[in-house]
Amino acid sequence: PTESPRLTVIGTGYLGATHAICMAVLGYEVLGIDVDERKIAKLAAGEVPFFEPGLPELLTKALESGRLRFSTSFAEAGEFGDVHFICVGTPQQPGSDACDLTYVNAAIDSLAPHLARRALVVGKSTVPVGTAAELTERLQRLAPAGTAVELAWNPEFLREGYAVDDTMHPDRLVFGVASDWADQQLRAAFRPVLDQGTPVIRTDLATAELVKVAANSFLATKISYINAMAEVCEAVGADVKDLADSLALDDRIGGKFLKPGLGFGGGCLPKDIRAFAHRAEEIGVGQAVSFLREVDAINRRRRARTVDLVRELLGGQISGHRIACWGAAFKPNSDDIRDAPALDVARTMHGLGGHVRVYDPAALDNARRAFPELRYGENALDVARDADVVVLLTEWSEFREIDPDALAEVVAHRRIVDGRHALDAARWREAGWEYRALGRS
Ligand code: UDX
Repeated sequence: PTESPRLTVIGTGYLGATHAICMAVLGYEVLGIDVDERKIAKLAAGEVPFFEPGLPELLTKALESGRLRFSTSFAEAGEFGDVHFICVGTPQQPGSDACDLTYVNAAIDSLAPHLARRALVVGKSTVPVGTAAELTERLQRLAPAGTAVELAWNPEFLREGYAVDDTMHPDRLVFGVASDWADQQLRAAFRPVLDQGTPVIRTDLATAELVKVAANSFLATKISYINAMAEVCEAVGADVKDLADSLALDDRIGGKFLKPGLGFGGGCLPKDIRAFAHRAEEIGVGQAVSFLREVDAINRRRRARTVDLVRELLGGQISGHRIACWGAAFKPNSDDIRDAPALDVARTMHGLGGHVRVYDPAALDNARRAFPELRYGENALDVARDADVVVLLTEWSEFREIDPDALAEVVAHRRIVDGRHALDAARWREAGWEYRALGRS
């Protein structure tokens, strides 16, 4: 294996930019490649094109070290790299649950003709199981070096908001490989991370692909499980917060991803469970994961139920009421609005004739661009002015710190729906607020 392999990262979106920057900081020579010239120009100028705590500082450091460069040239990538990481997006196909592999295929088709010597191509994107086997054939057919070019799969588990830490100190590394050489090349490409004692699972390509979707499906299932319990709690006047707290203390269950509320969104969990169910059906094992359809349905019902709670609090009607929405991002510490439950709820209430105003600490620009029909405000109190109801949709810490008495001064009515169980219910009720939350009476 190459002692210190030179790395390329194909696709400098969220995953790729983070990976490229962190690898350069860890000491590797890295070339970041993207077809988007604007993105490449920004990164080369030291600007991270998305919100991620800690990453801008590391980009500056990596550029100053001289180890990180960016380019749009696949010829340069082929010439430069020993190990090529594929980090392009795999979105949901419009009008289908299936995963769209256009970008992955395009990355292979663009890179392969420039691979004239032995090299390892490593897929990091989340793909339907079986994709890597097909890509191996495609890669070796198109590469001048033929079977001297190998494909491996190394799924990525990073969370937005914690991307740097998750990359530098992952819980585990999964190496899906077809040969000892590929395994050794990957070990060389992750040497500093392995030296920290990070566990490695070496496995086949299909298992490596599956690990990612299995992990995300489990997390989604855990969230929908507690949200299903919230539905039951509501029916009998029980309290899902106390229920979740009690379950969490059983360390076989644990409290992570057991927070009830408006449910999951983002660019991964929703599309990954749909694509997994779809793929399983294609390969004849749909029944094995049919529960994922239910996980998705429970998750969507939480959005509808949040709108219902607002309606109930407003005396049966959304139309004509002033509604302050706190939060637009799919989760706090992110500016990502992909499949954001918060914006889904805001748009539904707008569609029902509510006068909706939205505020988010980081995602306002993205929300404005995507949904110009909604109204926005510059801070939490601003959007709450004269509101008939305040609806907390994303649990940013700044919302937790808002004083119920101060807020009471600006609203028309003291009514609040806590879509994320983020507030201290007793404190708000003491301050004279009608407080409602999913799964609690
Ligand atoms: C997720 C996975 O965690 C990560 O490993 C994978 O690589 C990509 O997908 P991310 O989409 O960044 O990461 O968000 P995450 O922090 O996992 O949250 C997902 C969603 O679940 C958010 O909408 C969050 O609000 C929601 N959630 C999370 C809950 O509703 N309840 C919980 O208890 C936890």
